[in-house]
Amino acid sequence: MLSLRSALLCAALAALAAAAPAESAHKVKETVYPPRGWTVLRPAPPAHTISLRIGLPQPKFPELEEHLYAVSDPSSGRYGAHLSKGEVEALVAPHPESVQLVDEWLVSHGLAGDALSRSPAGDWVTVKVPVSLAEKMLDTTYHVWTHAASGAALVRTTSYSLPAHLHEHIDVIQPTTTFARSTPMSATYRSFRAGAAAPDRTDGAKVAVPGASGGQVAASCNGTITPACLLELYNATGYTPQAAATNKIAVTGYLEQYANYADYYQFLEELVPYAADSNFSVVYINGGVNNQTLADAGVEADLDTQYAFGLTYPTPGTFYTTGGSPPFTPDDLEPTDSNEPYAEANDLPQSISSSYGDDEQTVPYSYAARVCAEFAQLGARGVSVMFSSGDGGVGDGDADPATQECYSNDGRNATEFIPGFPASCPYVTAVGATSQVPEIAAWFSGGGFSNYFARPSYQDDAVTKYLGELAPGIYAGLYNASGRAFPDVSAEGVNFTIVWELEAGLVDGTSCSSPTFTAFVALLNDARIASGQAALGFLNPLIYALNAQAVSGFNDITVGNNPGCGTEGFNATIGWDPVTGWGSPNFGILKELVLSA
Ligand SMILES: *[C@@H]1O[C@H](CO)[C@@H](O)[C@H](O)[C@H]1NC(C)=O
Ligand SMILES: *[C@@H]1O[C@H](CO)[C@@H](O)[C@H](O)[C@H]1NC(C)=O
Ligand SMILES: *[C@@H]1O[C@H](CO)[C@@H](O)[C@H](O)[C@H]1NC(C)=O
Ligand SMILES: *[C@@H]1O[C@H](CO)[C@@H](O)[C@H](O)[C@H]1NC(C)=O
Ligand SMILES: *[C@@H]1O[C@H](CO)[C@@H](O)[C@H](O)[C@H]1NC(C)=O
Ligand SMILES: *[C@@H]1O[C@H](CO)[C@@H](O)[C@H](O)[C@H]1NC(C)=O
Ligand SMILES: *[C@@H]1O[C@H](CO)[C@@H](O)[C@H](O)[C@H]1NC(C)=O
Ligand SMILES: *[C@@H]1O[C@H](CO)[C@@H](O)[C@H](O)[C@H]1NC(C)=O
Repeated sequence: MLSLRSALLCAALAALAAAAPAESAHKVKETVYPPRGWTVLRPAPPAHTISLRIGLPQPKFPELEEHLYAVSDPSSGRYGAHLSKGEVEALVAPHPESVQLVDEWLVSHGLAGDALSRSPAGDWVTVKVPVSLAEKMLDTTYHVWTHAASGAALVRTTSYSLPAHLHEHIDVIQPTTTFARSTPMSATYRSFRAGAAAPDRTDGAKVAVPGASGGQVAASCNGTITPACLLELYNATGYTPQAAATNKIAVTGYLEQYANYADYYQFLEELVPYAADSNFSVVYINGGVNNQTLADAGVEADLDTQYAFGLTYPTPGTFYTTGGSPPFTPDDLEPTDSNEPYAEANDLPQSISSSYGDDEQTVPYSYAARVCAEFAQLGARGVSVMFSSGDGGVGDGDADPATQECYSNDGRNATEFIPGFPASCPYVTAVGATSQVPEIAAWFSGGGFSNYFARPSYQDDAVTKYLGELAPGIYAGLYNASGRAFPDVSAEGVNFTIVWELEAGLVDGTSCSSPTFTAFVALLNDARIASGQAALGFLNPLIYALNAQAVSGFNDITVGNNPGCGTEGFNATIGWDPVTGWGSPNFGILKELVLSA
């Protein structure tokens, strides 16, 4: 039986629908080529439900970007004066006309009231609809697509349309044309190796390292990495966090990557005994779970929590877990789909690490631009966002350079280097990998140039210098010299000792590097907050400015390269390079520098 309230609502809807202008004819909004590796299986079941997320344009985004740089550039008078949640929301709010026209279109399909959910700024409207209705709204046909190599399945289309009058009022609708998977960066090159010998740090043998605490590091660290190795190598031995009541650090996890508490406790007991009473909290997004069945522990999630939180004890750590809905896991799989909920949070951690990503070309530009804009919002609010730079060198994420297939996905099928996303977003700090002690570049360290995002001005000098030193004409046509170049920085990424399913073992990847770098950012924030200063927020303008000084606080990595696509890739050089960025952190020096920034 219809309640009076819903009867009234129905009548109101009918009236609205009748009043809505005749819908203009559909026009194609976006068409993509399905990325390599994806094949169409069958039409999507008409009753399968998807959450359509409709992105309305953010006409004031250029203003938000100006604020972002003003509060992130250490030479600006507003450095550190981050924006509030409300201020950021006002700067990403859509134009009222867009809201009205989109609402009218939704009403004409029977969608209104409780059927809609809106982001606080109103820039995203989400409707849960059966595939059959989405197909009518978007004049398209959805299919189930599968990715043979990973077994992933998605409900997607390669083209969709919108009434012509709505084109300028909608930036993007997903899930439609995005084929990205949330690939964890760990184990891309080789998987967890159980049975690592207990690291021997007690025999007294040392390796000289100029930037390390005391100028030397235990010799065992040139073999297996532990938190103690990293604290020593990055000149942070003996630093005690003082702002644990305010400062926070977080790592992200996605479907099937559960952070296991028993693994965490055993890791601390063995390798960070002074932190043995530590725990972390979990925030669940979009129905995420953190299953504690030991056999379900994720290597990536265990690695991220153990290093990010182990290195920063007693700074409170949060594991953000984002869900999906089997069997198709269609709409929530991508890290890109889940970014926005962070921007909605009131109480944000000051530093976040994410070791997930995919080839830039698996995400249509329209959506990548919106996701990247979400990171700008976090930066404006004072959050440092780190992403792994990828594990395929200059190639496509497959760390074996011999099997990489580096073809553009734009219909040209041109051979070219394959940048990763979100590392290619100019508003995140992309972290590459090093290996050995003293450090050299790790051969798999993802790096290169975006095909979507132009080079931001903060890296003009550094990248121009690097490009100027390349052999003339080398790799012409393989990379986009005008694109945002990455990584920005790096940290160790080979032979990390972790505990997984209660067993010690080794893992590699820029997956190790991002939580590690993020941990030192959290310690720098600790020092800033303890002295009454703002957290560092979006880091890149500061990082590039520091490196223009005589003393930068970074260990420049000048040996190694990142092969891929059948080439030797780029070289690590003096100064910035697309293998290791500016290098790894010297915490002690950086602490002095950021306290006076
Ligand atoms: C570190 O280990 C590598 C092998 O992984 C070796 O080639 C290098 O000589 C070692 N460095 C030092 C300083 O012992
Ligand atoms: C990593 O560990 C393996 C043994 O498991 C060793 O052969 C190799 O030299 C180590 N590499 C580095 C960079 O420490
Ligand atoms: C750690 O936190 C989790 C989640 O809140 C809780 O279930 C667990 O009991 C805690 N462990 C300890 C040792 O406090
Ligand atoms: C955790 O996973 C196990 C086995 O994979 C399953 O039986 C159990 O129902 C799951 N628990 C939750 C809370 O999802
Ligand atoms: C792209 O070119 C490569 C090499 O010429 C070829 O092997 C591949 O099949 C082509 N792919 C498409 C989609 O045309
Ligand atoms: C190169 O990057 C720019 C952005 O800087 C972009 O506009 C252009 O389309 C890219 N070129 C190719 C071939 O991808
Ligand atoms: C890397 O260095 C090698 C050896 O100096 C040189 O032959 C090669 O051209 C360099 N590659 C690039 C991309 O600069
Ligand atoms: C390590 O940091 C301290 C400041 O905490 C600094 O005085 C020292 O010079 C740094 N050591 C090296 C080797 O850079």
